[in-house]
Amino acid sequence: MKKRTLNISYECLTTAELTDDERRAIEAAQQATAGSYAPYSHFSVGAAALLEDGNIVIGSNQENAAFPSGICAERCAIFQAGAAHPDTPVSLLAIAARKSDGSFTTLPITPCGACRQVLIETEHRYGRPVTVLLYGEKEIYRLASTYHLLPLHFDDDSM
Ligand code: THU
Repeated sequence: MKKRTLNISYECLTTAELTDDERRAIEAAQQATAGSYAPYSHFSVGAAALLEDGNIVIGSNQENAAFPSGICAERCAIFQAGAAHPDTPVSLLAIAARKSDGSFTTLPITPCGACRQVLIETEHRYGRPVTVLLYGEKEIYRLASTYHLLPLHFDDDSM
């Protein structure tokens, strides 16, 4: 038997350590929480996809009484970016979330499994890494590629 290990890594940053574009994307993700429709969870998530041409496309979680019919903020933003700008690569995705009391989470939230799979596909689609920025009031996580969210994933190369 052979044992193999996959390593993932990410950076923990403060707002002061972000680039201007990264700060802009996080602010857009924070503002995007205002469009969240979350009458069931009362948890408002915002996402902002920064495109290679500098445009930002936002998304937010949209819930439904039939729970699985709703969608997370990340996929809302990524699918909207694909629909409106199919030929422009996504460079970065920023995510922020507000609790029911209106405050942002102290620590970053991390995307669900379905969103991770969609982010992996985005990276493969455009053939370039997508930086992931996860916002928390206390610290911000920066992942250089979606790979760090989903090592050993299934993608088009697997078929
Ligand atoms: N949610 C997101 O939009 N993104 C995440 O990364 C985690 C969870 C949403 C789904 C649901 O509307 C609410 O947050 C509670 O799970």
